[in-house]
Amino acid sequence: MKQGNFAIQQNIALTDNVYKMTLQGDVSAITAPGQFVNIKLDGLFLRRPISVCDVEGDCLTIIYKVVGKGTAQMAQMKEGTMDVLTGLGNGYDLTLCGDRPVLLGGGVGVPPMYLLAKKLLAQEKKVSVILGFNTKSEVFYEKEFLELGANVTVTTVDGSYGHKGFVTDALSSMDYTYFYTCGPEPMLKAVYRASNTSGQMSFEKRMGCGFGACMGCSCKTITGYKRICKEGPVMKKEEILWEG
Ligand SMILES: Cc1cc2nc3c(=O)[nH]c(=O)nc-3n(C[C@H](O)[C@H](O)[C@H](O)COP(=O)(O)OP(=O)(O)OC[C@H]3O[C@@H](n4cnc5c(N)ncnc54)[C@H](O)[C@@H]3O)c2cc1C
Ligand code: FES
Repeated sequence: MKQGNFAIQQNIALTDNVYKMTLQGDVSAITAPGQFVNIKLDGLFLRRPISVCDVEGDCLTIIYKVVGKGTAQMAQMKEGTMDVLTGLGNGYDLTLCGDRPVLLGGGVGVPPMYLLAKKLLAQEKKVSVILGFNTKSEVFYEKEFLELGANVTVTTVDGSYGHKGFVTDALSSMDYTYFYTCGPEPMLKAVYRASNTSGQMSFEKRMGCGFGACMGCSCKTITGYKRICKEGPVMKKEEILWEG
């Protein structure tokens, strides 16, 4: 983990309430797709965790949805620096996926799939990506995934764009060797049930410290308690214990 000051290079709206921010700084602690950063914001005691979407040279890209005070503050920032903790979380393991992985992202679970797709394509995997949204106005990053060279399917729940339905509806007709996913918990549960291979999923939980010190993000797994921020946020399908 590293703490650093990052300079805001760009902060633009991708949809009504989803923004893309590019930051310049020391990205050396970021070692795997699926890791996250933790951002300090004025007047807020707790940092806000956001997934790494991309790293290129000394530039870090994050994509965030405005849901409350912290993300609303971020959306207003056009220049200046931010205090960011980098290199948090375990990230996805790229060694287990065979030659035809499928990546499923739902809403703001889409961003971590981008760096993951980029790394898997660099390993010459045949990468399929399923991006799930509620409706057409929420869709973002389809073009960016296509430009990487992935096979891209977009689903919308109301059918206003792409395939009508959930990411799992698109998954059922696919031929894949492994899955990676990130999104809201109901989606993760559905992917867990619908998938016919092993895979990895990234979990979100409200966080205190974000680096393993407060135990605030502990959850029960098949192999005992784990901290989402430290031993997660990515877990293997086989270790997940659904509660409730
Ligand atoms: C590992 C990790 C990676 C994440 N990556 C992204 C990302 O790439 N893009 C993105 O937009 N968001 C991401 N999030 C969620 C993001 O951290 C929260 O949306 C953000 O902290 C909200 O801050 P706020 O001050 O705007 O909202 P708050 O005022 O703190 O909360 C507003 C609303 O959002 C809910 N909320 C806040 N934090 C979380 C959380 N961690 N999980 C679920 N619900 C929450 C609250 O319950 C409340 O209803 C991630 C969370 C985690 C734990
Ligand atoms: S948030 Fe403190 S241990 Fe995970």
